[in-house]
Amino acid sequence: MREALASAPGKVILFGEHFVVEGQPAIAVAVSLRARVAARPVDEPRITVSSANLGVQQDFDPQSPDRSSPLYPIAHAAVLTMEELGTRRGLQIRVNSSIPPAAGMGSSAAVAVATVRAVAAALGHDLEKERISRIAFEAEKLVHGKPSGIDNTVATYGGAIAYRRGEGFLELEVDFSPVSLVLADTGKPRRTGELVQRVLSLKAAFPQVLEPLYYAAGRLAVEAAKMMERGDFEAVGVLMNVNHGLLSAIGVSTAEIEQLVYAARQAGALGAKLTGAGGGGFIVALCRREDAGRVVSALERLSPRVLAVSVEKEGVRLES
Ligand code: PMV
Repeated sequence: MREALASAPGKVILFGEHFVVEGQPAIAVAVSLRARVAARPVDEPRITVSSANLGVQQDFDPQSPDRSSPLYPIAHAAVLTMEELGTRRGLQIRVNSSIPPAAGMGSSAAVAVATVRAVAAALGHDLEKERISRIAFEAEKLVHGKPSGIDNTVATYGGAIAYRRGEGFLELEVDFSPVSLVLADTGKPRRTGELVQRVLSLKAAFPQVLEPLYYAAGRLAVEAAKMMERGDFEAVGVLMNVNHGLLSAIGVSTAEIEQLVYAARQAGALGAKLTGAGGGGFIVALCRREDAGRVVSALERLSPRVLAVSVEKEGVRLES
């Protein structure tokens, strides 16, 4: 038994947010921002979790943990991992993440996935990806109530994933080396649950109007997957713009989002759209690598936080 360090990537949704809730396919990609988790067995029975990002540390008694703590989901992921391995130990867990939290970028899932991998390795076990993803999904239920499962899947496997509720996941074969993703924050926080409800109410009020939009979004994701696998990123960009139009139509865009999306397109992005729940949060712009700098500069004039990332091939990995 030893200290083990594992990491897992965050994600962005490229196609199909909201429409995925009602059964349409969606596509998410892992990004080159990672959560790192170190785990070390200790002699005391408790689980100590510290977060470099939050600047806090807390002890958890596995018998009666403080469930209100923001660090509890991490302790819970560790306990679930030990249950899976049929063992119980005291642990010291340290988390350090470069994924912006509460921004729709899968930060909690990446931390959960890296925690499962690190805890198993610290206790001398190797876990298959399928088990890591499943344990992290269970842990995520605490944070999100009803997670779709896409975040833990992307954090575990990396790359690009097509997902359909009730049907599962498909890994897409895409060479993303010619492109970058530029992410820009509106600086406006949003609540995913409220936006999901708002969209569902609109659909319930006007089903005849909204259903064709859902159908279009589903076809769009399927076409986008084809274009990605073919390496036709111009087409992928065009389809991102169409997807953004559908998201505006269902009421989850805002003036700030539109401003960023149009600025990215004018600066040379192949396509730009809101990503995740909308109502604030981030936009994502797809750029040829050589154009990313220009898009970043244009967005930095309007956004408090701009990140240029690439699509990350590798999912969870053991660092040491
Ligand atoms: O912003 P995020 O990553 O929490 O994205 C929410 C995505 C939705 O499709 C709006 C909801 C969901 O559960 O899929």
